Amino acid sequence: MTTDTSGDVRLTGIGKTYDNGFTAVQPMDLTVPQGSFFALLGASGCGKTTTLRMIAGLEEPTSGTVHLGDQDVTHLPPYKRPVNTVFQSYALFPHLDIFENVAFGLRRRGIKSVKKQVEDMLELVQLGEQARKKPHQLSGGQQQRVAVARALINHPKVLLLDEPLGALDLKLRRQMQLELKRIQTEVGITFVHVTHDQEEAMTMADTVAVMNAGRVEQLGSPADLYENPNTTFVANFLGTSNLIEAEVDTKNGDDIILKAGDGKLVLPEARCSAPTTTGGKVLVGVRPEKISLTHADDAGSIPEGRNRITGKVADASFIGVSTQYVIDSAVCPEFAVYVQNVERDGRLVPGADVVLHWSPAHTFGLDADQDIDAGTEEEAA
Ligand SMILES: Nc1ncnc2c1ncn2[C@@H]1O[C@H](COP(=O)(O)OP(=O)(O)OP(=O)(O)O)[C@@H](O)[C@H]1O
Ligand SMILES: [Mg+2]
Repeated sequence: MTTDTSGDVRLTGIGKTYDNGFTAVQPMDLTVPQGSFFALLGASGCGKTTTLRMIAGLEEPTSGTVHLGDQDVTHLPPYKRPVNTVFQSYALFPHLDIFENVAFGLRRRGIKSVKKQVEDMLELVQLGEQARKKPHQLSGGQQQRVAVARALINHPKVLLLDEPLGALDLKLRRQMQLELKRIQTEVGITFVHVTHDQEEAMTMADTVAVMNAGRVEQLGSPADLYENPNTTFVANFLGTSNLIEAEVDTKNGDDIILKAGDGKLVLPEARCSAPTTTGGKVLVGVRPEKISLTHADDAGSIPEGRNRITGKVADASFIGVSTQYVIDSAVCPEFAVYVQNVERDGRLVPGADVVLHWSPAHTFGLDADQDIDAGTEEEAA
């Protein structure tokens, strides 16, 4: 990590209400540290592009300030900010070749000897061989890399990327995610990347801000957001979560004991973001891959101290590396369980009685005053 802060992006109380009275971004504070790969992640319409455009100077905030390093740029026009943007539509100049597309920013500033810089930049994005082609002669992924090179040649302190891979097919997207990550590591400048694809955000970013309806719901490293979601929206939007309605029964040292149906579940208090007064409701969460499935006939072999729930297999889909089960249980109608295909138990077919069990350490607790389905695909549809 560096102590240079000139590439920090600092948003203070920034908010945007459009002329029609619609508030796209609620006033918020957000700091993106210099040199980080930062992702703004959220569903369509949650305010990602609006936030990015306020950083770029393309949209005037209704409230708050934008700082880049120590400089207040809130009232600077876009071209005076040390920021460049790459959009989903790469907007390359069709009549110029790749070399000239990349050279454009330098030429516009009246710089004559551009050759070395353009060649270095084409090298960085691995397009050295393509310099004399026109944009239409390149693949989508190559065009995307030209757009990145064209932005980076201006030596911005911050590169803003708005769904830059949105037009690419899945396989190319995956390649370009790694490629962009490599480029960011190599140039070391701050990247702010907007996407609605949670896998993309998790693959690329050091820090992810999950946005929902104009607010940042939670901010953290991908692993932290995944393992310790604080809201039902984050729990459901990032991967899949099983959420069980439970009631606080007692406390036992650092653990909370909860009643769910006619069974008990253990939740470490430190992993609970909800109030835990006795008799209060808590949503208990567990990720599908943390759960083991045991046929009811073998229930005696399950080690002590694990959280357990009984159910019936409703569906089993074999998908190669794992089998994805849907389990019907009294406390959760469609419990998702992912089991690695190491030694498959042939008895785990639809209709089989099973016990689901997992370590209390893999359990998280959420405030029950939330929509349990927030952030799920069903809710979005
Ligand atoms: N000029 C405008 N006037 C009024 N409302 C707007 C304007 N631009 C955007 N909005 C609204 O503000 C909200 C946020 O828009 P924004 O473009 O920031 O969303 P987004 O998160 O980037 O979505 P997507 O993933 O679809 O690109 C949306 O509901 C949108 O309809
Ligand atoms: Mg957008």
